[in-house]
Amino acid sequence: MKNVRDDFPILKEGLIYLDSAATSHKPQCVIDAITHFYTHEYATVHRSVYKLAASATEKYNGVREKLAHFLHASSPNEIIFTRGTTDSINLVAAAFPFHKGDEIIISEMEHHSNIVPWQLLCERVGTVLKIIPINDKAELDLEAYKKLLSPKTKLVAVAHIANSTGTINPIETIIQMAHAHGAKVLIDAAQSAAHLSLDVQKLDVDFLAFSGHKAFGPTGIGVLYGKYELLEQMHPVQGGGDMIETVTLEKTTFAKPPLRFEAGTPMIAQVMGLGAAIDYIQKLGLENIARWEHELLVYATAKIEEIPGLRIIGTAGNKVGIISFIIEGVHHLDLAVFLDLEGIAIRSGHHCAQPLMKRFGIPGTCRISFAPFNTKEEVDVLIEVLNRTVAVLL
Ligand SMILES: Cc1ncc(COP(=O)(O)O)c(C=O)c1O
Repeated sequence: MKNVRDDFPILKEGLIYLDSAATSHKPQCVIDAITHFYTHEYATVHRSVYKLAASATEKYNGVREKLAHFLHASSPNEIIFTRGTTDSINLVAAAFPFHKGDEIIISEMEHHSNIVPWQLLCERVGTVLKIIPINDKAELDLEAYKKLLSPKTKLVAVAHIANSTGTINPIETIIQMAHAHGAKVLIDAAQSAAHLSLDVQKLDVDFLAFSGHKAFGPTGIGVLYGKYELLEQMHPVQGGGDMIETVTLEKTTFAKPPLRFEAGTPMIAQVMGLGAAIDYIQKLGLENIARWEHELLVYATAKIEEIPGLRIIGTAGNKVGIISFIIEGVHHLDLAVFLDLEGIAIRSGHHCAQPLMKRFGIPGTCRISFAPFNTKEEVDVLIEVLNRTVAVLL
């Protein structure tokens, strides 16, 4: 990971960036890919025959193929471009054939974007939401999960990795248990796509969602993977150009997935940027990324725990490079502001996971999260500044 820092122009400005779980900074190759596309290759896709448009379409479709390969999907037709994880989850909530009385299981550690769409669905259709509790380490209670599953369970929607604590959930087990009850599974992979390798066929997962902007790609682009036979059963949510087969003034027939779910001119340049981001991740190698971030996690956890009054929220046995913490007598927002004055960017607040905060009886935490470009030297600076700041604030 030594030369990785050179790839990120913002790091040359002296920033210590410890907020990659919120959004990742962009390597130069992604910025260049977007600029190059707009400068030399820009045209609409799926519509025109001139050379520029044909070439843009080919490149756009190539990114879909790249993503299918990245996720080990059986076909590019199982990859839907969305605006991000939130959009992907909302798409399933709106398009999947749910009925009154169907049960949906989520967990207490979910991001709001894997809670609110299901609550809206319950209001709209009369589905019932069931919640898997978590233990004091912020791990899922699998015994409780087992008891929630029933023939009424239609969908289990859980995070692969909790953004607020870094807990890695045992999604293989979760998926197998759901399937044994005939339920489908949606995995929120917002926090995993740039950190752990994903194999949708090996997992046998039904839906998987992630955001480009957390995986070195641009904002405004994300992915929904869905098993093709399930996508085929889903009704379009938005109508418009590109998602149709034929339109008369009386009736429309719809295109097959994935286009059925991609109404209107798509996020063409963002797709190109995401393609470059996927190339970048594969160049670094997900195993190398995971190994280095784990080393940083172990190093930082040991050091941060020595700070008097500090408590880590989320001490699961299986974690990614995310550390959430509170310090007795110090408000998390104050701490983040002081760190910012020293050029250190961390996240503070409830991390869009208010139910988890409630479970721990706290309003929020400070959270540091690692990317491959972070170093042990940066951790040392963080610890030194934390110690100094706490001494001032207490
Ligand atoms: C676990 C998890 N799920 C969903 C989301 C929502 O992602 P987006 O805002 O990119 O749609 C996030 C973003 O923080 C997340 O961490």
